[in-house]
Amino acid sequence: MCGIVGIVGRDAVAGGVIEALRRLEYRGYDSAGIATLEHGRLERRRASGKLVNLEARLAEAPLAGAIGIGHTRWATHGRPNETNAHPHATARLAVVHNGIIENFRELKQELETDGVRFETETDTEVVAQLVSRNMDRQMGPVDAVAAALPRLRGAFALGFIFAGEENLLIGARHGAPLAVGYGAGETYLGSDALALAPFTDAITYLDEGDWAILSRAGAEIRDASGAVVKRPKQTIATQAFRVDKGEYRHYMAKEIHEQPEVVGRTLAHYVDMAAGRVMLPEALPFDFARLTRVYITACGTAFYAGLVARYWFEQIARLPVEIDVASEARYREAPLERDGLTLVISQSGETADTLASLRYAKSQGQHTLSVVNVPTSTIARESSVVMPTLAGPEIGVASTKAFSCQLTVLLCLAIAAGRARGTLDAAGERRLIDALIRAPGLMAEALTHEGAIEILAREVAKARDVLYLGRGTSYPMALEGALKLKEISYIHAEGYAAGELKHGPIALIDESVPVIVIAPHDAVFEKTVSNMQEVAARGGRIVLIGDAKGAAEHGLETLATFTMPAVDAMVAPIVYAVPIQLLAYHTAVFMGKDVDQPRNLAKSVTVE
Ligand code: M6R
Repeated sequence: MCGIVGIVGRDAVAGGVIEALRRLEYRGYDSAGIATLEHGRLERRRASGKLVNLEARLAEAPLAGAIGIGHTRWATHGRPNETNAHPHATARLAVVHNGIIENFRELKQELETDGVRFETETDTEVVAQLVSRNMDRQMGPVDAVAAALPRLRGAFALGFIFAGEENLLIGARHGAPLAVGYGAGETYLGSDALALAPFTDAITYLDEGDWAILSRAGAEIRDASGAVVKRPKQTIATQAFRVDKGEYRHYMAKEIHEQPEVVGRTLAHYVDMAAGRVMLPEALPFDFARLTRVYITACGTAFYAGLVARYWFEQIARLPVEIDVASEARYREAPLERDGLTLVISQSGETADTLASLRYAKSQGQHTLSVVNVPTSTIARESSVVMPTLAGPEIGVASTKAFSCQLTVLLCLAIAAGRARGTLDAAGERRLIDALIRAPGLMAEALTHEGAIEILAREVAKARDVLYLGRGTSYPMALEGALKLKEISYIHAEGYAAGELKHGPIALIDESVPVIVIAPHDAVFEKTVSNMQEVAARGGRIVLIGDAKGAAEHGLETLATFTMPAVDAMVAPIVYAVPIQLLAYHTAVFMGKDVDQPRNLAKSVTVE
């Protein structure tokens, strides 16, 4: 999604703005721009495509202003071309915007009736024109913004600079994250602390409805009513911002390989290894024993982690689970019982639909527990309990290490639920913990298959369609495998419950369609083998991701078989995440795709 940066600096800020924008690239974008004040006059440079294009513009026509705003745009309203790129400007101001102004049509009409002419197809230009009109009506910049903000509907974050105002930058947060950073004689605005890390570790996150008036001396923060408020200043651990690729070609490769370490770190946070028990870091405000069900909601990969967790909660804790994608959950108006539990899962902690579902659950009197990777995120801050995943910053748009850490946390939680509900005794818990603490080592072993997976990827790269099949927890893993492949290679891929094959998808099978079967030797393995037989009988080419026991038993010809280490069935999804990620990664690399920033996708989806 769009990224916002602003600097009120001492010297030329263009270089710093570009550096910060580079740190926001991971969010996904299709054009970029910058505006500065050159001797009091607004100047912009914008370009479609990647930041290098903007840098080329700046090289041709440098900007020297000591105050500026920058933006990476993920198109919502209007094509991703230079005209629609931010900042948008009038003679009076320039603005950058993340999110959607839902009532932009009605505002546009009103402004057009007033004689305003629009140059772009964007909703953002409405904001520029609205504030400008307020200034035409003799308001100063601060009052003009204050008067405009209540007229905007939607979820957004904004950053403004003004012609002739060398020491004034205004930021506003309404549904999309925004942070203020403090430096020596400089103040910053950014979509997240990661963007501001090169300049400062002293950050204030704006609360919902806040807006901030920045100058070189600092920032005054006001709430939605206009009252000056104090928000806590936090020191952000700079180590959390190490975002280099290290020895790897892509962030995604690095993040896949980091999994044994980060899953281990996450486990250490939630498990007393010596006692063989889950130790939740904070007391829960609800009692698992009294719950009649748990509601889970999330989007994309995080949703698939939730689908895996459904099997765990139901099997380990005998706790019924209702689960839905957040974009549906938020509008279904499902009756949720007071004092029940809603569990939300999100890497970024900023996904608009997930956040809205969380707020809906709260409005119904539910306890809310979030599993998030960004502990300072809005979802984390608005949940009654936060269980962080300790994956570290995930930069590749395709989620990998956050997913395996989500699974790790969710399995710990299901174990805690089982214990509380008396469905898991101490011996059962120890057995599961013993299996769980072996996961990092087994993931490292799974990574040793990379060479063979890379060779298979060349074959998969030729396919137009790929099917993924699995049963039990391997069903959501099949969905995740298909999502991973399609989002970075753009090959059409679908995941199915293996038992559903003959209810339709079997019609797709011929020798051109690789069928990736995820099947550890678990309680449903034999059933999955029957489905593999159905595929083989129709000339389908099977790739088995299984284990030695299963490989020895199935007796079918496969295009390839990857033998994962033997692992407890409950823990298998955490280990099997590795080969499905590697297959998607190497297929996309072989096809020459931009694996870290695939087309049309955003890392943090802050619009619905
Ligand atoms: O930040 P979140 O976990 O809430 O994001 C949810 C999805 O947007 C995300 O998992 C998306 O599906 C990824 N691109 C998957 O790789």
